[in-house]
Amino acid sequence: MRKKIVAGNWKMNTTVPEGLELAKAVAAKSAETPANVGLIVATPFTHLAAVAEVLKGSKVELAAQNCADHASGAYTGEVSAAMLKSVGCKWTILGHSERRQYYGETDAKLVEKTKLALAEGLDVILCVGENLDEREAGRHFDVVTEQTENVLLQFSAEDMKHIVIAYEPVWAIGTGKTASSDQAEEIHACIRGILAKHFGAQVAEDTTILYGGSCKPSNAKELFAQKDIDGGLIGGASLKADDFIAIAQSY
Ligand code: PGA
Repeated sequence: MRKKIVAGNWKMNTTVPEGLELAKAVAAKSAETPANVGLIVATPFTHLAAVAEVLKGSKVELAAQNCADHASGAYTGEVSAAMLKSVGCKWTILGHSERRQYYGETDAKLVEKTKLALAEGLDVILCVGENLDEREAGRHFDVVTEQTENVLLQFSAEDMKHIVIAYEPVWAIGTGKTASSDQAEEIHACIRGILAKHFGAQVAEDTTILYGGSCKPSNAKELFAQKDIDGGLIGGASLKADDFIAIAQSY
């Protein structure tokens, strides 16, 4: 059985003291979530080391929201995969639509970042998803297929054990507009088909595919009931411990 995961993407929210409070609350309540559902929090870089301490002894795992596309050196302002590993991250998110849109993240860069993350022993949550224009033009399957293949075809079936995919339609992120469970499921099934085609049925069966985009306690149950939806990448609702935990309890 592939792993179910509920991951919180805090984005650029909370000061360090606020983040520590939130992490403490999530860690404390994590015992109330089903044992087969993994929990992850992706905090700002500044919070990682301190949050790692708070999460010790709980089931909650730590993620970064991005990592550098170089291993080390003269890249002012960047944070490497090795640095993330050294503060206790198990995961990094890569290719979030906000990084693609505002920071010029290309699929080629994502290949480099994913290689570096995997080499350091980090697991990757790779985000894909179409924007509103692409959805309205009926190009959503093509866009998601292209984004998925451009990165993942550079990796092996063995690497796929360390990669989770998050489908996040850009028009649903932070807008309150959730994709319907049918809209989400058909894209998830498409992604699983891509995995089957390139890596075989077993990899397709074993890979966790998350949904993200205005996922909240009121809609999580219906989304997570879909055959190919294995949990969520949660933005806004992950900033409230009770909502985040309630989403995990939808399973
Ligand atoms: P949202 O964000 O839940 O606030 O829509 C999801 C995400 O961007 O990961």
